[in-house]
Amino acid sequence: MRHLLDILDLTPEEIGQLIDTACDIIADPDKYAEKCRRRKLATLFFEPSTRTRLSFEAAMYELGGSVLGFSSSSSSSTSKGESVSDTIKVVSCYADIIAMRHPKEGAPMVASMVSGVPIINAGDGGHNHPTQTLADLLTIYREKGTFENLTIGLCGDLKFGRTVHSLINAMSRYSGVKFVLISPDELKLPDYVTNNVLIKNNIPYEETTDLIGAMPKLDILYMTRVQRERFFNEQDYIRLKDSYILTPDKLENAKSDLCIMHPLPRVNEISVAVDNDPRACYFKQVLNGKYMRMALILKLLEVE
Ligand code: CP
Repeated sequence: MRHLLDILDLTPEEIGQLIDTACDIIADPDKYAEKCRRRKLATLFFEPSTRTRLSFEAAMYELGGSVLGFSSSSSSSTSKGESVSDTIKVVSCYADIIAMRHPKEGAPMVASMVSGVPIINAGDGGHNHPTQTLADLLTIYREKGTFENLTIGLCGDLKFGRTVHSLINAMSRYSGVKFVLISPDELKLPDYVTNNVLIKNNIPYEETTDLIGAMPKLDILYMTRVQRERFFNEQDYIRLKDSYILTPDKLENAKSDLCIMHPLPRVNEISVAVDNDPRACYFKQVLNGKYMRMALILKLLEVE
């Protein structure tokens, strides 16, 4: 039985296969409409979500399966003190596969140790968000046609932004990739990612606070929200929340084929005036997420 806790649980070859499956689903969705008939997905969301939970649910319905679950810990027996382990043991009796989001780093790992069915990490604290990375990878593939020789700018909250950590892990496995890490000093990439991924693997990277200065060299600009829910101090959040706001004038020196990404939700980081720019890819990312989650469910359920 396979789980997806970290994007590195999938080899680059397996990611290539998931992308092939997703592209085949896009080309011929009817072929997949009954693939998960009589299978059930449980979505256990102990933290708020719009895209991840609903795209998992849409994915399972489009595969002909069914969905059960909860969208907040307050509507589950967690509010009575039930542990994650007990919740997972119980839900394993009802569902064939579980997608879970939890505010505590490592909770999906704990779940995988007691679960009788595959566990998918749908985001754990400020740690990882591997299925967002699958959405990001399909977007990069469809926009750029390759994962190699790309300069990727990551901008905003690189400290708490779990999507950034998973994407760096994933993209570090392709040759010729460089990272430009754009953030305030207080929200720099954690040392464990810099040391264990970038330095350990000799991946070229630079750290800067200057978004406009970095812009001309970027093939991909990945904007992120400052993660209010991870701050201990509201004053720090208020001081840092508008550190970067992408507006059309800031794109003047950007490449004509720049791919602008954002895992969403956005607050202020990208002006709505950018939405009509053909380089804006963040709503394409949303749709790509559904296709990749369909491909992932098929893989983990071992459906041919
Ligand atoms: N990108 C993302 O995880 O969005 P949600 O929090 O709405 O699921």
